[in-house]
Amino acid sequence: MTDQYNNHLIMLDVCRESDWEGELLVSPITVDDSKQTDKPAKDVGDILLVERHDEKSDKPVYEALLSLGEEEKITSEIVRQAGGRLANWLIKREHKSVGINIKNLNNLDETGALKGFCEGLLLGSFRFDRHKSKDTDLHATDVKILVEEEKSKFESDVDHSVVVAKSVSLAREWSHEPPNIINPVSLAQRARDLAEENGLKCTILDEEDLKELGANAIRSVGFGSQTPSHLIILEYPGSGSGKDSDPVILVGKALTFDSGGYSLKSLTGIRGMKYDKCGGMTVLGTMQAVAELKLDVPVVGIVGAAENMISENAYRPDDIITTLSGKTVEIISTDAEGRMVLSDSLTYAHQNYQPRAVIDVATLTGGVVVALGKVRAGIMANDDGLADALMEAGERTHERLWRMPLDDDYFELIKGSDSDLKNSAGIRQAHPVVGGIFLKQFVPDDVSWAHLDIAGMASVTKNKPYSPKGATGFGVRLLVDYLENL
Ligand code: BES
Ligand code: ZN
Ligand code: ZN
Repeated sequence: MTDQYNNHLIMLDVCRESDWEGELLVSPITVDDSKQTDKPAKDVGDILLVERHDEKSDKPVYEALLSLGEEEKITSEIVRQAGGRLANWLIKREHKSVGINIKNLNNLDETGALKGFCEGLLLGSFRFDRHKSKDTDLHATDVKILVEEEKSKFESDVDHSVVVAKSVSLAREWSHEPPNIINPVSLAQRARDLAEENGLKCTILDEEDLKELGANAIRSVGFGSQTPSHLIILEYPGSGSGKDSDPVILVGKALTFDSGGYSLKSLTGIRGMKYDKCGGMTVLGTMQAVAELKLDVPVVGIVGAAENMISENAYRPDDIITTLSGKTVEIISTDAEGRMVLSDSLTYAHQNYQPRAVIDVATLTGGVVVALGKVRAGIMANDDGLADALMEAGERTHERLWRMPLDDDYFELIKGSDSDLKNSAGIRQAHPVVGGIFLKQFVPDDVSWAHLDIAGMASVTKNKPYSPKGATGFGVRLLVDYLENL
């Protein structure tokens, strides 16, 4: 099981300089430092290889100078990006053993810089190659971080980065899996295994359970699929003084494939809809991190898993569905299925727990991509404190958010005529906000709630410094940071 997502090509270790016997030394430098070389580095992550004479062995040794760009502009994100580019460079050159000298990361506090650097290295080394039949030419690299001072001080930072990067990689790996491999049934099994490995309580509600409960919104979305909808619930009890206090509930949309249903997507719009499960994978990845890091706060992860397909059993436009909350919804578009899945998941959350806060994560609308592009995810919330805390976590981790409104005036757009609600306005106004307003109907006003629309951030079509093409695992680092800072 573990090797399903433990796909890192780079292993990190930390050691004192005197212990190091690596082949290559990597030293971070700034653009100014690099001016002293004949080919100065310009951009973050540029690498200059220099030959040095080792007096002890009398042999040439190599040092890679890794550019962090201009000194005044160095932030932990810059260091993370440099780490990512270094990972790609190391993998391409098949370097087996590398020493990284961190003493030049002098413009940041060493802790933040080291964490960012390790995250970049590990995340930049992610590859989704399990379905390639040919042996790829990538090989594991053993990276040692060299420190001059007390080793243990740095070890915990490296360990933290390893856990976080492993959890982001889990989210990426599972998001990448095609819909013929991950469907609601196989996903539920993976979640069960994940829970067992991490000592989490796991409850799976299958089609029969959901029918008995009256969770018809999540059920309907899956009616067209051979693999029925499931609700996956993982529970982490907290530790120390936080144990058994009110939990933070993370709710994720996991459409293992979104064809749009009878409101069928276009030829180009349908491509990549395996990534419509990314919100749910972010929740699962976060649960793993929370358990491994033994955070104080109790956390519940609820993942609504469904596949939106067409068949004689599929739900249709014009259907009126009674949700778990008792509210009725008329289907305007079967492609607005994420909010149906989440409506029952959110109802389940507050019916079964007394949440300290509820945060849902979903690739909910194409509209948020139009509004914010691929730089920030949208956040809508009924609680300013929660919104601020999440936005601050977003700035710290560089998984950035931008707040959108939730005025009740928007409700007009989805007010039902033959039902309580419509699942879509049927017009293009305020798409992401309409999604948020719909979800708000399923959260009591006294429950602190935020909705993250990650449709633009969940996957990338080009390689980024520490996110290769495909799923990004967006939200895991953000949520872990938020939960750690509660
Ligand atoms: N899964 C899509 C949203 C999406 C679009 C995610 C592009 C990632 C990239 C969602 O289920 C959807 O189809 N939303 C519709 C809603 C509309 C029918 C009200 C949309 O945004 O167009
Ligand atoms: Zn859809
Ligand atoms: Zn969808």
